[in-house]
Amino acid sequence: MDKFIIQGGRPLEGTVRISGAKNAALPIMAAALLTSEKVQLDNIPRVRDIVTMAKLLAHMKVHVIAQDVPPSAMTIQTEEISHAEAPYELVKTMRASVLTLGPLVARFGYARVSLPGGCAIGARPIDLHIQALEKMGAKMVTEHGYVEARAERLRGAEIHFEKITVTGTENILMAATLAQGETILSNAAREPEIADLADLLIKMGAKIEGAGTSTIRVRGVEKLHGAAHRVIPDRIEVGTFLVAGAITGGNVLLTECEPRHLCAIIDKLSECGVEITAESATSLRVRASGKLRTADVTTEEYPGFATDMQAQYLALATQAEGDSLITETIFENRFMHASEMIRMGANIEINGRQAIVHGPTPLSGTTIIASDLRASASLVLAGLVAENTTVVDRVYHIDRGYERIENKLRALGARIERSG
Ligand code: UD1
Repeated sequence: MDKFIIQGGRPLEGTVRISGAKNAALPIMAAALLTSEKVQLDNIPRVRDIVTMAKLLAHMKVHVIAQDVPPSAMTIQTEEISHAEAPYELVKTMRASVLTLGPLVARFGYARVSLPGGCAIGARPIDLHIQALEKMGAKMVTEHGYVEARAERLRGAEIHFEKITVTGTENILMAATLAQGETILSNAAREPEIADLADLLIKMGAKIEGAGTSTIRVRGVEKLHGAAHRVIPDRIEVGTFLVAGAITGGNVLLTECEPRHLCAIIDKLSECGVEITAESATSLRVRASGKLRTADVTTEEYPGFATDMQAQYLALATQAEGDSLITETIFENRFMHASEMIRMGANIEINGRQAIVHGPTPLSGTTIIASDLRASASLVLAGLVAENTTVVDRVYHIDRGYERIENKLRALGARIERSG
């Protein structure tokens, strides 16, 4: 299993290019199931979850044509499929496999998808996806750890999500494009990745209004056609590099990003005394020279502070002057990284969904274990400021969602190596 070996203590300096958004690319790849024509995608991040999604599509005998592995561009064509199934072996490594449920039942009238089960950050059920498809006329059966959906043709319905769900909104949005009649999704998630998915679907001929707001209207069509699409930049990768620049007292230019997607994060880091300036419409510079101040954070759905940035922010808070209160409202068990940072010398109290970080504390290098994707990013950030050597174990988590983070960090002057 790969590890990162980090010698901390160097301010990061230079330029880093941001990759495409994993969480936009995954539903977009699933959307290619909705048409028999070619869907051409660009700015795909070269990360493991994308390889898993490509494997899942290939498992159904979908044509996935990519020049290199992992790919940054690919063409997907779904003339026919051999079987409409997402097996447990793939779903267990990537929950986003569940994004095939809506498109499969909408186009082929049948889908069988393994239930994802819990994960390191909480229970994460898909009951809201299931209820919504049921409301659209699908016969849903859950047995033997799989959910099966059947419908000759889905019909439009009024879907009110009890709780805001990102992949739930995406699944139902995709399903609704081929349903008979109009679907109205209320209390829908507003993440930029949903607007990006809708952009592609509209190019494919879908009739969608309101994506990116909490009410989305979809008028179902008989058929969708092929399209070409460039995936939006990864706002969580941007946020992670902003923290990397800030925590090391560095000066980093981030290019090919979309600053408008990062308002909550930029505001919070600015409150901490980090200087962030837009150098162009698609680039941000982060500088941190003085002392970091504390700012309390509560995670929220977009446009609030992303739960996917909570762990990285917590790493920063260990270096800020005073007490930071960090409240996690989206997932019930998302402070696993804190116990590893405590082992490095951080002073953190965890109380249910809240963490109080007493800073600043010097961190000292040791061997730490990554428990999930964003937790592992936060441990790398902690390693960048720790004294001596930090070994971050199980970096396969980080490879799921960051494109060779060690190469990007090394190009900024960090001393980080991968060891097998
Ligand atoms: C997506 C993101 C993930 C991010 C999360 C929250 C992708 C591939 N993943 O995950 O990186 O951390 O949004 O921003 O885009 N819930 C239910 N029932 C459901 C669905 C969700 O109770 O049917 C609950 C979840 O347990 C969680 C909350 O709703 O507490 C939000 O989850 P959701 O938005 O669905 O997260 P994901 O789409 O899985």
